[in-house]
Amino acid sequence: MSAPGKPFALRGRTLSFCDDPFRVRPDEAVRANDDGAVVVADGRIVEVGPAHETLARHPGVAVETYGADALIMAGFVDSHAHYPQMEVIGSYGEQLLEWLNVYTFPAETKYSDRQYARAEADAYLDFCLANGVTTASVYCATYPTSVDALFEGALERGMRMAAGKNLMDRFAPAALCDTAETGYRDSKALIDKWHGRGRLSYAVTPRFAITSSPEQLEAAGALWREHPTTLMQTHMSENLAEIAWARGLYPDAPDYLGAYERYGLIGEGANFGHCVHLTEREIARLTETGSGVSHCPTSNAFIGSGLFDMQGLRDCATPLSVGLATDIGGGSSMSMFDTMKAAYEVAQLRGYSLHPVKAFWLATQGSADVLRVADRIGNLAAGYEADMIVLDLKSTPLIAHRMRTANDLFEALFVQMILADDRAVRATYVAGRKLHDRDEIRAEG
Ligand code: GUN
Ligand code: ZN
Repeated sequence: MSAPGKPFALRGRTLSFCDDPFRVRPDEAVRANDDGAVVVADGRIVEVGPAHETLARHPGVAVETYGADALIMAGFVDSHAHYPQMEVIGSYGEQLLEWLNVYTFPAETKYSDRQYARAEADAYLDFCLANGVTTASVYCATYPTSVDALFEGALERGMRMAAGKNLMDRFAPAALCDTAETGYRDSKALIDKWHGRGRLSYAVTPRFAITSSPEQLEAAGALWREHPTTLMQTHMSENLAEIAWARGLYPDAPDYLGAYERYGLIGEGANFGHCVHLTEREIARLTETGSGVSHCPTSNAFIGSGLFDMQGLRDCATPLSVGLATDIGGGSSMSMFDTMKAAYEVAQLRGYSLHPVKAFWLATQGSADVLRVADRIGNLAAGYEADMIVLDLKSTPLIAHRMRTANDLFEALFVQMILADDRAVRATYVAGRKLHDRDEIRAEG
């Protein structure tokens, strides 16, 4: 493990973004070096460029050489996940509302136990690192202790993480419900305790308009207004039965978003999960207010919610801020490769092909933008925090075979997003510290 603060360099192929590939042509949006180097000091990237010139400017710096089959890039950013749901990934046979009642709510009640929550949080964070995910925006359970568990683990690892306690005061088991008043008070105490500590951010987390009463949404809006540097995350427009129920519970709102909007739960730093069945008005309001959206493609497929409109929402004249998200455990994988693959397949089903550069951009810069930190993480560039991953471009026999006929960088990226999994993540660095080394783990195992 590299000592914190001491300058070092990684050498291999490098991939950086110099623009938004939805705004300019994909080839104009990336910078790649076949033999590149990244110089890191004090947890930040100092320089990225061709290896010979870059290393010559930093004589004596320790160099870790990964070689031509390695791709060094920014760590993945998962803009929407539920750590207490790791234990329900792959639960059979239900769609959203039944899936919540049958599998998810019972699992989340276990997170009132501090030790259990801490062990699961540690497992979750280590799975993130093994999958090259260096930042996520996480829903914990209702219990403040479940947030403490995640933030303690993230602080120990030096990870940039956002998280919050679920606010939910109705239509769920009593053991999982708070009230408008206790939810506000507990969330405020967690903000005071954690927000801005290390690299941690609090996200005010009204679960969704069904499990929060109007009084609770009002309290959540007030709390977010009182702490404007926090984030706000919720679910919206995921499943048709959910939408019908939410509309019935907020009959005066013009649409689903209108219920949130009425209580100030919209704007920069707002992160709406799913958004599969949006109305024209909702799209216009999300765009005008600079709100973010998390695309959760494996989840939307797995629990049968629907096909997100990437072209209409992102590849258009007035694009929304869109991040890519696992949404475990509605989502079926912790891998951002699987998530990019699902995003590609869903787009194909709507007649749109998601270019690999756009997919990798969504999984890094796009998600970072939703979390308002795109100038700090999600890119391999000077000044950025040194959250980096090293990918093995030939991690399985099939990928190695397929890579023989991959003619350029775009094809190589596309092969990875379709075929790769956690075996492709050779190393994960968090603020310049190597926290995951695949080959060391293999040797030990
Ligand atoms: N809507 C409200 N809660 C949840 C959840 O935990 N997962 C998903 N996928 N949708 C939700
Ligand atoms: Zn979710």
